[in-house]
Amino acid sequence: VGKPMIGILNTWSELNSCHAHLRDRAEDVRRGIVAAGGFAVEMPALSVDETFNKPTSMLYRNLLAMETEEQIRAHPLDGVVLMGGCDKTTPGLVMGALTAGIPMIYVPAGPQLRGNYAGETLGSGSDVWKYWDEKRAGTITDEQMLGVQAGIARSAGTCMTMGTASTMTAITESLGLSLPNASSIPAVDSTHQRMASASGRRIVEMVWEELTPDRIVTPEAVKNAAIVAMATGCSTNAVIHLIAMARRAGVALTLDDLDALGRVTPLIANVRPAGKTYLMEDFYYAGGLRALMKELGDRLDTSALTVTG
Ligand code: FES
Repeated sequence: VGKPMIGILNTWSELNSCHAHLRDRAEDVRRGIVAAGGFAVEMPALSVDETFNKPTSMLYRNLLAMETEEQIRAHPLDGVVLMGGCDKTTPGLVMGALTAGIPMIYVPAGPQLRGNYAGETLGSGSDVWKYWDEKRAGTITDEQMLGVQAGIARSAGTCMTMGTASTMTAITESLGLSLPNASSIPAVDSTHQRMASASGRRIVEMVWEELTPDRIVTPEAVKNAAIVAMATGCSTNAVIHLIAMARRAGVALTLDDLDALGRVTPLIANVRPAGKTYLMEDFYYAGGLRALMKELGDRLDTSALTVTG
């Protein structure tokens, strides 16, 4: 009595290197929950990963959404912290929690550090395929390929291009479901630990404020998220997932809406693969998503409520 029970739905798995740090990070979330007077219970959630799920991770997004919804419904939770980041985990967790409807906050896993090999910056995804082709063409040696492999994933975290993972965490933040700038923080930066702990504290307050996601994910918030996605040069998967997330909130979003916004929204982020050279770590040092949203100015509806209230 008097202590809100907060579920930490964690998609940590030993087979998902993108979430390697989430086992520890859940402790930071727990510390925040307890500090704010809550009772924390960690619960595993399906760790849909792009690297090993066969035949394709796409089949498992909706399974995670169902699991999330039922985990929340089946337990006496007052609020929930969602921990994910690898592509499908973000929409899967958010979709399920939107339907369940209790206060929720999203803790994005955060991108990896920049890749580095022989003085060259490597971007996950893009350079994997480039160097795999070089290897098949016989233009690089096995030893060089091993160097690329070791250098391309220098830390825990999600792919550090503006691929699906960073796109979806940016969308979730701009829907209002994460603390400001949370999605841009590199996974292994100490600020990421502080963000996790702050998210734990905030969810307890949200329970007392009855700040449920139906008050946050409104048509205005969905439009904000779509504009932000366009300004980041988002992954094409944003279309599939944002429409699905919006529908869970009862907001109709169509391909025509996205097409119309895409025609009038400037591409602001210079991050690979749409941009040149830069990666998510650079994006963070340049101010991150908060700076990008500031640049968008009155294109965004700043009256939309977020998890901060
Ligand atoms: Fe997990 Fe790219 S493989 S984010």
